[in-house]
Amino acid sequence: MTTEIYKINDPASLTDDDLLALERAGKIIREGGLCAIPTETVYGLGASAYSSDAARAVFEAKGRPSDNPLIVHVSSPADAEQFAVVTDTYLRLAELFMPGPLTVILEKRDSIPPEVTGGLDTVAVRCPSHPVASALIKAAGVPVAAPSANLSGMPSPTKGEHVIRDMTGRVPMIIDGGDCTVGLESTVLRPLDDGSLKVLRPGGVTVEMLREAGFTVVTDKAVTDPSAVGDRPESPGMKYRHYAPAAEVVLLDVKDRGISFADAVLQMEEGRGRSFGVMCMPDEVELFPKEATVFSFRDSEEMAHTLFAALRGADFAGLSVIYVPLPETDGLGLAVYNRIIRAAGGKITRPEF
Ligand code: TXA
Ligand code: MG
Repeated sequence: MTTEIYKINDPASLTDDDLLALERAGKIIREGGLCAIPTETVYGLGASAYSSDAARAVFEAKGRPSDNPLIVHVSSPADAEQFAVVTDTYLRLAELFMPGPLTVILEKRDSIPPEVTGGLDTVAVRCPSHPVASALIKAAGVPVAAPSANLSGMPSPTKGEHVIRDMTGRVPMIIDGGDCTVGLESTVLRPLDDGSLKVLRPGGVTVEMLREAGFTVVTDKAVTDPSAVGDRPESPGMKYRHYAPAAEVVLLDVKDRGISFADAVLQMEEGRGRSFGVMCMPDEVELFPKEATVFSFRDSEEMAHTLFAALRGADFAGLSVIYVPLPETDGLGLAVYNRIIRAAGGKITRPEF
């Protein structure tokens, strides 16, 4: 399949050509085809949420098991009414956090075929804030089902080059909108009957933000402990191996070890002569030899949007191993922790020297 790759230089001010390209993309989706699109979290692989065939094509393009349900994207939170049973809690969440990196699980209506929801009687709803995603959904004129646009087993794409690498030849159109600002997938939560919220996947709308808004919030045990995922998790995506590059990911906890992160890495690699990478703070960069591949970040936000690029970069550079400091689990750190603990195969390394 030939793929049209259209580059949008400034998503904040769309040109006439951009709008024409979005019309083309919208038509493709409305007619049952696929288009990869930027969102503020990660790139999505968009398809009409009303088409079983399009949903099947999504799973095929990704190489993904078809029992993993898709998130349905809307350009206005109220549009969820067309395919989901909208609740007061949803409306409150929408008022506070939509458009934005939040996905809410609601009871589904029959307008959505079972292929989209992996046979579940619920549907995940999200209203992205990215201007390109928003314009595309409007142009499509239908709700847009979209998983992250990576090949199954790869980290979600957070840059145009990632999505071009994964999806060229597999879909008719890719819209390259540059880097995704959040860099990790949306927060997925399920409102419980008593009005409290259960976070199934942490993301850009943090537990703290939800609590500050007055919600009672619990997090699924599997958020921080991948081994707690049973055979039938509430969010089917939890059970698949995720985000793990070919390079070994060493999640390093040096707390109370009397050694700095940089020194621990250097000692662990001493005399091994292998190519390694490291994620670290800017002031640590110069402590590593120049052969090391270094990805620096200043805070949780930067760590979040550097993480997937670093994991892809580790494989691209053919690294044997990449060291990542154990993140704090507050704020956006919880989302970073949730992804990196999976990439590291559930293991935290606490070095002894
Ligand atoms: O930020 C995001 O959410 C991105 C962008 C493209 O919007 N999308 C995304 O989609 O990450 P995906 O398919 O890679 O992840 C969707 C997650 C999966 O873990 C899936 O199991 C869960 O949401 N999910 C979807 N529908 C669900 C449902 N009805 N009940 C429980 N979990 C659901
Ligand atoms: Mg995904």
